[in-house]
Amino acid sequence: MAEANEDYIIKVEHLNKHFKVDKEELEVLRDINLEIKEGEFITIVGHSGCGKSTLLKIICGLVSYEDGEVIRNGHKVVGPGPNCGMVFQDHRLLPWLKIKDNVGFGLDHLTKEEKAITVQNHIDLVGLHGFENSYPSQLSGGMSQRAAIARGLANNPNILLLDEPFGALDALTRIQMQKEILRIQKEQKTTMVMVTHDIDEAIVLGNRIVVMSARPGEIKEIIKVSSAARKRNSIDFSQVKKKIYEYLFEESEQEIETDYII
Ligand SMILES: Nc1ncnc2c1ncn2[C@@H]1O[C@H](COP(=O)(O)OP(=O)(O)O)[C@@H](O)[C@H]1O
Ligand SMILES: [Mg+2]
Repeated sequence: MAEANEDYIIKVEHLNKHFKVDKEELEVLRDINLEIKEGEFITIVGHSGCGKSTLLKIICGLVSYEDGEVIRNGHKVVGPGPNCGMVFQDHRLLPWLKIKDNVGFGLDHLTKEEKAITVQNHIDLVGLHGFENSYPSQLSGGMSQRAAIARGLANNPNILLLDEPFGALDALTRIQMQKEILRIQKEQKTTMVMVTHDIDEAIVLGNRIVVMSARPGEIKEIIKVSSAARKRNSIDFSQVKKKIYEYLFEESEQEIETDYII
């Protein structure tokens, strides 16, 4: 068991995960080792089905694991907790609740006044001021994701896990949301771990990028991203992007077209 004053806010050690499907064992994650420090923004990329969502759910405590150890905030993960929020691709807002009630969902341990202040602060934080009384169906995709992020942060977690949160958004809204999440991360100092299939997004947001192999998902490489490389169109950005594509496609016969990457 890790010490409470552990340097790492998340520590995954020798994690293996299998699912039983039709009496067959499906190996999904193999020997995952990952240490994340407080305040980091980690992005995870990998082929579809390699176990990215499963890894996030295990860290969140939504999916169990048998082999290895997963430590969150100094304690072994045995289930979900208020110090760890999660945002999914489909915003999962409750359609019959107003935005303010969606954001406040799960805050019943607070007094009425505390809850109202917390909800308003988080609605303001994500730029949804004026939409407190709207229903999810009245919001655009980007606004719904903002509300989902507000809900994820309302419990004041020090970890936010994001599973392809901008996957359903159009390209322009997506870029806007990337800026917003960076701003929020700087303001709140929340440790963030985001799965994305968008390589550019992984580079722009992550201070480290975890590149996974095809299933069974193993960590192929963890790439540190310099602040220079975070600027789209910089040479460093292109180099990181090329490296990621090489790792992702090194098992396949496909030639990587440089024109396509840059
Ligand atoms: N609850 C489950 N039961 C059985 N198989 C699952 C379950 N969840 C995920 N899987 C399988 O595990 C593999 C990895 O899934 P997932 O973590 O969702 O991948 P990714 O997010 O990288 O696309 C897939 O083959 C998927 O079908
Ligand atoms: Mg997934």
